[in-house]
Amino acid sequence: MIFDSWLNRRSFFIWAIVPTIIFMVIFSWSCNSQHKIEPAPVAGDPLAEKGRLVAKGAGCFACHSVDGTKLVGPTWKGLYGQKRKFSNVSIEVIADDAYIRESIESPSAKIVAGYSNQMPVFKGILSAEQIDSIVAYIKSLK
Ligand code: HEC
Repeated sequence: MIFDSWLNRRSFFIWAIVPTIIFMVIFSWSCNSQHKIEPAPVAGDPLAEKGRLVAKGAGCFACHSVDGTKLVGPTWKGLYGQKRKFSNVSIEVIADDAYIRESIESPSAKIVAGYSNQMPVFKGILSAEQIDSIVAYIKSLK
């Protein structure tokens, strides 16, 4: 009897606890590796570097790359000065300060062609100064 319940407890441990621990370890590891996405610092441009840090803190890099990789959202590499087309408005816009600011404050105003309306609204979440620094950062990504 005593041996039986010991056996049961041990098999419970093996079949329930061990897989749970393995799952938790793998899950937390995969979450961690996503948070490690951090573009290189910008040298010699304090405002752009501030923008990089603000963008990192706001979680922008979960959806935007700075190396040309298409993620949930378009890459920021070479965005500044580029012609943009949209799926909900039939005008073309050159990505300038005003456009980038609007894209951050009201993402659904102009939805970039080929992407869906998944970006959160940052109006009221980021200050005007923070948004200006992100604009400077995006401008620095040639
Ligand atoms: C959940 C994913 C997600 C997050 C987080 C996110 N974005 Fe976006 N973003 C998108 C998607 C998708 C688009 C394209 C659709 C659209 O225009 O709304 C986009 C579009 C943009 C554009 C226009 C890009 C272009 O190619 O014209 C800018 C600028 C931008 N985001 C900046 C930001 C900034 C700054 C942050 C953080 C403060 C951020 N995004 C966070 C998904 C995201």
